[in-house]
Amino acid sequence: MSTISYDESSRSWLIGLASSSYAFCVSDEGSLRHLHWGAPLGSGTVAALTRDCEGPALQRTRDLAWSKDAPDEYVGWGGMRYDEPTLKVTYADGDRGLDLSVAGHRIAEEDGAALLEIDLVDGDRLAVTLHYRAAHGFDVLERWATIRNTGVEEVDVRLAASASWWLPAYDGPWRLRYEHGGWGMEHRLGDVMLATPGKFTLESRRGMTGHQHTPWFTLDRDGAATEETGEVWSGQVAWSGSWKIVAERTAADRMHVAGGWNDFDLSYRLAVGQETALPVFAGLHTADGLGGASRAWHDWTRARVLPSIEVSESAPPRLRDAGPWRPVLYNSWEATAFDVTEEGQRALAERAAGIGVELFVVDDGWFPGRPSATGGLGDWRPDPQKFPNGLEPLIDRVHELGMGFGLWVEPEMVSRDSDLFRAHPDWAYRMGGREPVERRHQLMLNLARPDVADWVLETVDGLLARYDISFLKWDANRNIADAGWAGSDNPERLWVEHTRSLYRILDALRAAHPSVLIEGCAGGGARVDLGILGHVHQVSSSDNTEPSMRWDIHDGYSQAFPPGTTGTWVSDWPHYGLERPLPLAQRFHVAMAGALGVGGDLTRWSEEDLAEAAAHIERYKEIRPVVQGGRMHRHGEAWELVAADDSEVVVIAFWRDRPIGNHRPPVRLTGVDATARYRDDTSGTSYDGSLLREVGLTLPGADGFGFGSALLRLIKED
Ligand code: DGJ
Repeated sequence: MSTISYDESSRSWLIGLASSSYAFCVSDEGSLRHLHWGAPLGSGTVAALTRDCEGPALQRTRDLAWSKDAPDEYVGWGGMRYDEPTLKVTYADGDRGLDLSVAGHRIAEEDGAALLEIDLVDGDRLAVTLHYRAAHGFDVLERWATIRNTGVEEVDVRLAASASWWLPAYDGPWRLRYEHGGWGMEHRLGDVMLATPGKFTLESRRGMTGHQHTPWFTLDRDGAATEETGEVWSGQVAWSGSWKIVAERTAADRMHVAGGWNDFDLSYRLAVGQETALPVFAGLHTADGLGGASRAWHDWTRARVLPSIEVSESAPPRLRDAGPWRPVLYNSWEATAFDVTEEGQRALAERAAGIGVELFVVDDGWFPGRPSATGGLGDWRPDPQKFPNGLEPLIDRVHELGMGFGLWVEPEMVSRDSDLFRAHPDWAYRMGGREPVERRHQLMLNLARPDVADWVLETVDGLLARYDISFLKWDANRNIADAGWAGSDNPERLWVEHTRSLYRILDALRAAHPSVLIEGCAGGGARVDLGILGHVHQVSSSDNTEPSMRWDIHDGYSQAFPPGTTGTWVSDWPHYGLERPLPLAQRFHVAMAGALGVGGDLTRWSEEDLAEAAAHIERYKEIRPVVQGGRMHRHGEAWELVAADDSEVVVIAFWRDRPIGNHRPPVRLTGVDATARYRDDTSGTSYDGSLLREVGLTLPGADGFGFGSALLRLIKED
């Protein structure tokens, strides 16, 4: 149970999480002063800490920096405050300073979590409520703020981070781990040592999360944490629009990390009485290393963030068989690109059904004006030439084959060459009279406009109501540019409202069609973050399906997100990064470490390949609860996935060339029970748990050259 307690004598709060603590107090100056984020504290210890937080340490800060950069829980810009702030506003009279003081607090219990709300006020003009939510059984603390205009004139919010996380005082270097990348190369891990004062900024200014960085980080002292050991602090901003995370080592050598909306070009005006809630900036502390941080994120995200998967009684049999897990899907994009026809899709569906696929998805190209990427976006009805009798005959056939039917849409976009654009040219983002910039021949709809967002919702809802659809792939192949909004006196709001509208639409679609599974995609992985995972059931993390590169993408994705939540396809070659004929087994094994999909042109696969594919898919169905619901231990080339009930362990491995004679060492399985025995369900070999932990498992075929892969299932013996 998480607990939140308040000690009146020291005016301090202590939040107790599963295996960590968080504490702060009211300082002598009346502001909120951070005290502790880390290993568990005893309940009587906070009073002593409050004494420590005043006095010499703070004095030194002032002498050195001529500033007040003490660890305030929420840093309002104003006075002698020069470190990274969390809030900056402009009042109507031009006043731009903030002096936030504590006005009250509430502790409550809600929906399996302990809640704390602290009210801060800047006189009678602005109120800020800081929210803390600690779900029972986890180490993740959710923090966000609500900003309310309590004055008599408009307030312009120019910078509003959700939280600032203060790390323990430490004179040595902090290692910051983060992700960088681009299209087809998402989730690459990077790190930087923050040893001296300065800032490191991660951000997106694109109106979308972006391929370039993930709103996630870890920090550890000296870079000493390993996969399984050491203290790690980690955070994630739950926001799919422009975001920013600033890790700052202050002049006083204190580390803090502010994060939330990006303030670049931000101006969010609050009318009198109006309030706005900032996205969650979640954080966790673990003593179990980098892998421990990932497992903590995975468990919490599955339990508290992801929408549950609901299968209706009337769903096609294969979807019912998949139950609460993400189904094995076939997607026609790589096979046909825009050349989608009823006949061609039928042929693919029949092959897909033959290998055990559970869900058949028609991708881009099914609507009119879409012989290529040059047009059609916005006209969400079947192309009468490609589907002379509508989509129904194909859907019926897919159902006859026992599979669910899925459809691709890209509803935030519009092509110039579309009926929608001809009717509503003003719906696309544009700056004044300037011609908007096209990307992939498309413009972006101003979803911040309620009328445009309503149209998008009605249109997609109409598709789901009209056709028997079990899966919606929601794609987005460009970012916001030309961020103008004709007729609005506060166009900068679009940076926030676009994403809010997107979330509102997705939530309304899920509420109206609870058994439709939604996949978030943005040219592969440009919208992968904790925010979107609260509104869709799975995401695409990349278009790159080349096993060696995808293994790295998996690795990066798994730092923050549960591995089975990313759709991953088995592709033909040559395709994108897949430039060499890697065996089907390697392509399957890597895809089986995610939510398995098949993307190759099945009409060209040999009978032998189809039979092998069927065996892999059968195998995936057996291990699926462990991949999608288990605990992951990363061992570089191998992933160890332990069933939630500990009944089995799945090992999936992919390795690359190694120099002659350099055989792979056995993989030490750190998640197995040392006192149990495990039986390989294929070879029948029985292993002692302590040997698997201490000596390791030698992967089959691991002494050869070149790329290789393996998948083993070890069942715990009674
Ligand atoms: C980008 C996606 O990532 C692909 O899977 C595919 O859906 C294309 N868009 C279609 O335009």
